[in-house]
Amino acid sequence: MTEAPSPARMTPDPIAGLEGVVAANTALSHVDGQNGILILRGQRIEEIAGKMPFESAVAHLWRDFDITGASALRAAFGEARRSAFQVVPLLEAASPELSVYERMQLGLAALPVTGEIPAAIAVSGALPVFLAASHRIANGLTPLAPDSTLETATDLLRMLSGETPPEAHADALNRYLVTILDHGLNASTFTARVIGSTQADLKQAVLGAMGALSGPLHGGAPGPVLDMIDAIGTPENADAWITDALARKERLMGFGHRIYRTRDPRADVLKAGLRKLGADNPKVRLAESIEKAALAALRKAKPDRPLDTNVEFYTAVLLDAIGIDRTLFTPLFATGRTPGWCAHVLEQQATGKLIRPSSRYVGPQPA
Ligand code: ACO
Repeated sequence: MTEAPSPARMTPDPIAGLEGVVAANTALSHVDGQNGILILRGQRIEEIAGKMPFESAVAHLWRDFDITGASALRAAFGEARRSAFQVVPLLEAASPELSVYERMQLGLAALPVTGEIPAAIAVSGALPVFLAASHRIANGLTPLAPDSTLETATDLLRMLSGETPPEAHADALNRYLVTILDHGLNASTFTARVIGSTQADLKQAVLGAMGALSGPLHGGAPGPVLDMIDAIGTPENADAWITDALARKERLMGFGHRIYRTRDPRADVLKAGLRKLGADNPKVRLAESIEKAALAALRKAKPDRPLDTNVEFYTAVLLDAIGIDRTLFTPLFATGRTPGWCAHVLEQQATGKLIRPSSRYVGPQPA
């Protein structure tokens, strides 16, 4: 198998990334990349994340769909978790070679969506269960049944560790899940809309979106962010390490964004979450000095391209600070983003239109 060329070595093709192409009307979220603003159904992310439970934020996003209101959603997600737990024996029987993410996809593929629970709730409620069960299976532990009375973030942490989590940790995870709920027409959301536009079911659209999210240029970055922080090791090492990485034409994980030409507002929302946890953790101080060094080095190396901190940088630091293993970062991203994907699929399906763009043929003509 030949290795794919690295982005740094490829000839720029303005069409390849669909940059600037508007491919959907949406009332769900708006990313203002010039001003660093993220709006979720009429409210700025700073007014939502850290201010309300995940369930309320999802209800806010789903307001226009006939699913369920905020007051009923916590119980409905709890019920969906209970129902999804029935699939867990299948996850236990599957090959030990599967990653947590692959096992979650397996669970989702096997999830019965019967109509008793609306599909968006069944799918969104199932992923926390599959995530926690898959992590425990990977570590030789028995999966734990959900407690349907709890909020999603609290129950997710409890299903992972078996213990009632400290409130501060549940709050931090809740803030994270809300922060990443929806974000315009990013690669995975676009994938979900394309699949949904064929009138495929919601589960298939979420499975496809999970595939798109898994890559390091999208949701696969926060694990490598922490690897980078570990490799740098000390604040004194940051400048030299970053300069060398940029000289080797490597990308600094957790920096740069297709849309934001300034700071990703989600980075600050998550950084505020870290402060609430108490920023005396040495890794937090190390991350802050790495961020400072990286921004200075990027400004020097790419003066024409504003590259700033993206959501993945502080995702990695925040989740690490509440004891979440780095192998769970992308699975958690998928878990928080699923209600957003579902909303986009429903919005797309309501248009009744199949997404089917054209390509420009640049190959040889027949003789
Ligand atoms: N470190 C170093 N250089 C970078 C970085 C980075 N993190 N990001 C972009 N650049 C450089 C590129 O090398 C390129 O330089 P060149 O023109 O000299 O070749 C230039 O900036 C433009 O890069 P593109 O890939 O064309 O920009 P794009 O908008 O497509 O990139 C992306 C966005 C993929 C996120 C990029 O910034 C990146 O690879 N970042 C690192 C990975 C990361 O953090 N991903 C998570 C993104 S957030 C999310 O999806 C939830």
